[in-house]
Amino acid sequence: MLGRVNHIAIAVPDLAAATASYRDRLGAVVTPPQALPEHGVTVVFVDLPNTKVELLAPLGEASPIAAFLDRNPAGGMHHICYEVSDILAARDRLVVAGARVLGDGSPKTGAHGKPVLFLHPKDFFGTLIELEEV
Ligand code: CO
Repeated sequence: MLGRVNHIAIAVPDLAAATASYRDRLGAVVTPPQALPEHGVTVVFVDLPNTKVELLAPLGEASPIAAFLDRNPAGGMHHICYEVSDILAARDRLVVAGARVLGDGSPKTGAHGKPVLFLHPKDFFGTLIELEEV
């Protein structure tokens, strides 16, 4: 069911500082900031030859990553995104298998304009999983 790793996401308290660190200290190519109000975050992507790293910072008062940053004020690894070819089929299979899909269970549009879903970290060894249909 799982395809490639689409990206690994790191929550950061200061997106500009994180962008500068990846660009200037690590020499990486970083995309311009993209606000995702539906997800309560602003993101940039670090382009790598084999995958991407997503840096995400809170957007708005009710950001879903605010509590994570309260627990991890310096930032930290937030989720890993796997590609799937059919997100609804993947969701249905996971629900039957007892996995919890976050939110109302319907895919939202992610940063790449594709449908995404998140799976409860307690069902996957403490790691939040994002599925993206590609
Ligand atoms: Co992501």
